[in-house]
Amino acid sequence: MDVILIAAVTANGMIARNSDEVVGWSEDLSLFLEQTMGHAVIMGSNTANTLSADLKGREMIVVHREMKPENVLNQIDGVKCFVIGGARTYSRFAPHLTHLFLTFHPIVMKSGSLPLFSHLKQEIELDFLKMVKVNSERGIYQYQYKVKQ
Ligand SMILES: NC(=O)c1ccc[n+]([C@@H]2O[C@H](COP(=O)([O-])OP(=O)(O)OC[C@H]3O[C@@H](n4cnc5c(N)ncnc54)[C@H](OP(=O)(O)O)[C@@H]3O)[C@@H](O)[C@H]2O)c1
Repeated sequence: MDVILIAAVTANGMIARNSDEVVGWSEDLSLFLEQTMGHAVIMGSNTANTLSADLKGREMIVVHREMKPENVLNQIDGVKCFVIGGARTYSRFAPHLTHLFLTFHPIVMKSGSLPLFSHLKQEIELDFLKMVKVNSERGIYQYQYKVKQ
């Protein structure tokens, strides 16, 4: 099964100003909807708390600290699933990721903001797959990478 990290990222690699921020600056929501539709989406409890509604058409799995990522993944029936955040959850699932879909936005957040990975224990090497247009006038594209196994 493909395990795909999907995130909106600033030019300095941040995903939010803090753990409570509702990310209103992301421009790739329609792409996010299209790519995740019909698949399981895994998120941490802080991210779940920022959502104003359920993500329709997708199995929503909210993870807590006592849940082992490998057990969460083993219970999913499908060819792919998405890890949709936040920083702690991206870090916890890092050893299992097969792909990263990152949409870089023209924003630089100040120090102390939440990085894509807040608790990463190992480096991840990537192969570039392709680029998907989000907003060409603003230079916003989604970069798709495959994790080198
Ligand atoms: N830009 C983007 O694309 C994007 C995407 C998603 C989210 N976000 C933003 O990211 C922010 C949330 O990210 P986050 O990293 O704070 O939270 P998170 O990953 O959404 O949730 C925190 C997770 O870490 C667990 N946890 C807490 N303490 C732990 C510990 N000591 N050891 C192991 N696990 C622990 C929590 O479990 P418990 O439930 O047991 O506490 C929960 O599963 C929000 O502002 C959200 O809007 C941005």
